[in-house]
Amino acid sequence: MTLSRQQFLGLSAAATAAAALPLDDSLRGVAARHGFMFGAAVRSGALIADPRYRALVLRECGLATPEGELKWNAVDADRGYDFHRAEAIQTMLAPSGVRLRGHTLVWHNALPRWAELALATSETGRQTLADHIQAVMAAWRGRIDSWDVVNEALDPGEADGMRRSPAFRGVGPDYIELAFRTARAAAPMAELVYNDYGLEGTDTRSDAKRRALLRLIEQLKMRDTPVDAVGLQAHLSLEQAFDQRSYAAFVRELSGLGVDIHVTELDVADHSTEAVSVRDRRIADRTERFLDAVLDTPRARSIVTWGLTDLYSWLNDWGRYYRRDLTPARALPFDASYRPKPMADAIRRAMRGAPARAV
Ligand code: G3I
Repeated sequence: MTLSRQQFLGLSAAATAAAALPLDDSLRGVAARHGFMFGAAVRSGALIADPRYRALVLRECGLATPEGELKWNAVDADRGYDFHRAEAIQTMLAPSGVRLRGHTLVWHNALPRWAELALATSETGRQTLADHIQAVMAAWRGRIDSWDVVNEALDPGEADGMRRSPAFRGVGPDYIELAFRTARAAAPMAELVYNDYGLEGTDTRSDAKRRALLRLIEQLKMRDTPVDAVGLQAHLSLEQAFDQRSYAAFVRELSGLGVDIHVTELDVADHSTEAVSVRDRRIADRTERFLDAVLDTPRARSIVTWGLTDLYSWLNDWGRYYRRDLTPARALPFDASYRPKPMADAIRRAMRGAPARAV
């Protein structure tokens, strides 16, 4: 095969870029060599108190999403902004080149009481929404380059597919458009993401939610609303059937509307009482089939797991164990002793096997 000069230069540029990337087998390293970003949701308290966890995050993650530190109830609980917990995360991770994702600006959950009331009132809703987005994004301009602007606005149980959230009630159905426009003005360089869950199953509810999401993004795009990407949360469950081919088709259709795709909150719940090794294998298998479906789309850019070790997973928190038999969930790529599980290999294999994209 003879290469044109342009092809040759392209290949050598790619080879030089690849040579500069970390060669280790970390999830961060494998992601970078295959044109992805890999990361996890992180907790400021654990990063401070647990050096082994901090070391694991620094070794494996190129991206980190504060799990709760940027939510409305964390940054403006009582009318006065306080970012110190998110800033602690930045101080610990940014010097090692870990980029932060912002989560989340408009959500029906994690709202302080005052904001919930103000949003749900037509006289104050618009201003409250816009002020919050403006204040938070301006404070983090240049430090966070991707934001979940609107989170979980869909409800497949409603005829129009839209959740009756405080903002929906106070501002009206166009609150989503207002949020994205305000976000673009507040931080013009930031990537603006719509983020949602419950999209993976083969049941009618998941199907209705997929259709509602496609409709929402299509409508936003038709109105030139600045939405750049969709976050697929991906809280997967082994109790739910998954059809890889139809899910891949859905992701392709979504990206065809002109948005990038991020996996933003990946974890895998199960209620199996089989041996841990069997559960881990099934969780890895589901992870790989899910990621194969998503990464098939060239516009899929990043994978973030919702936690990195089973030690710090929302599924194991607050003594309200998720699992019916009350044993810990094994939902994440590293176990509670920080050892890699088959799920970590599955993520690596999916990234290595994905159609090539620019590095
Ligand atoms: O900080 C308090 C602590 O002082 C108190 O002792 C304890 C007792 O309940 O609660 C602590 O706050 C909890 C907080 O997490 C921090 O740990 C809240 O009760 C609890 O509701 C909150 O849960 C978080 C949840 O979002 C709501 O904000 C989970 O950790 C977090 O994993 C979860 O993440 C969401 C994403 O943001 C959106 N998608 C779904 C995902 C999973 O539910």
